[in-house]
Amino acid sequence: MDTLEAIRQRRSVKNFDIRHQITQKEITTILEHAILSPTSYNIQNWRFVTITDQSIKNKLSELSHGQKQVSEASLIIILCADLNSWEKNPQRYWQNIPEEPRNALIESLQKSYRNKPQQQRDEAMRSCGMAAQTIMITAKSMGYDTCPMKGFDYDEVGNLIRLPDDHIITMMVVVGKATKAASPRGGQLPISDITFENHF
Ligand SMILES: Cc1cc2nc3c(=O)[nH]c(=O)nc-3n(C[C@H](O)[C@H](O)[C@H](O)COP(=O)(O)O)c2cc1C
Repeated sequence: MDTLEAIRQRRSVKNFDIRHQITQKEITTILEHAILSPTSYNIQNWRFVTITDQSIKNKLSELSHGQKQVSEASLIIILCADLNSWEKNPQRYWQNIPEEPRNALIESLQKSYRNKPQQQRDEAMRSCGMAAQTIMITAKSMGYDTCPMKGFDYDEVGNLIRLPDDHIITMMVVVGKATKAASPRGGQLPISDITFENHF
């Protein structure tokens, strides 16, 4: 599917075929594309928890105020981020470049995030937001539909997936075969209302 078409057709779908099983190869394809999304300093601070087990999907649906797209989806991806990825062996983010520019980048990276919890959290949201959109467009182009979600109990879901102390959950994306089209679009704001040339 053409990229622009996939963007136009992506909608938040709420009804999926619970019997459809996504293959491991398809999950890998989605993730292989997700990790091509950009991150600041190539920090790749996202961490993806994938869930296909029906009993865990049911539990996640309960923790999402009973939203049934969660239990019906073929795949749930919980997008998490490691807040301390900036200090964990950062050489690996530029393993393909020469040592000198790599060291300069590491110094700059560490300056950006050391003792800056707000920056660490902002970066988690930026990276996962980018990855979520890539996941949704990739899935759409593979014949799947998706729903991005923040309507769940973050603490309880964190317990369920054994979230490490220095990680956060940013959102989740459910992926499945639609059984019902999304409701009509709520309505996009006019571009002229939300775009400002040169300044507000
Ligand atoms: C960060 C985020 C969280 C969302 N959380 C939920 C959710 O918990 N449940 C839900 O049904 N839809 C959720 N949505 C879907 C939005 O309602 C939907 O994207 C919006 O209405 C626009 O519709 P569209 O995605 O079909 O274009 C979420 C979307 C985003 C981006």
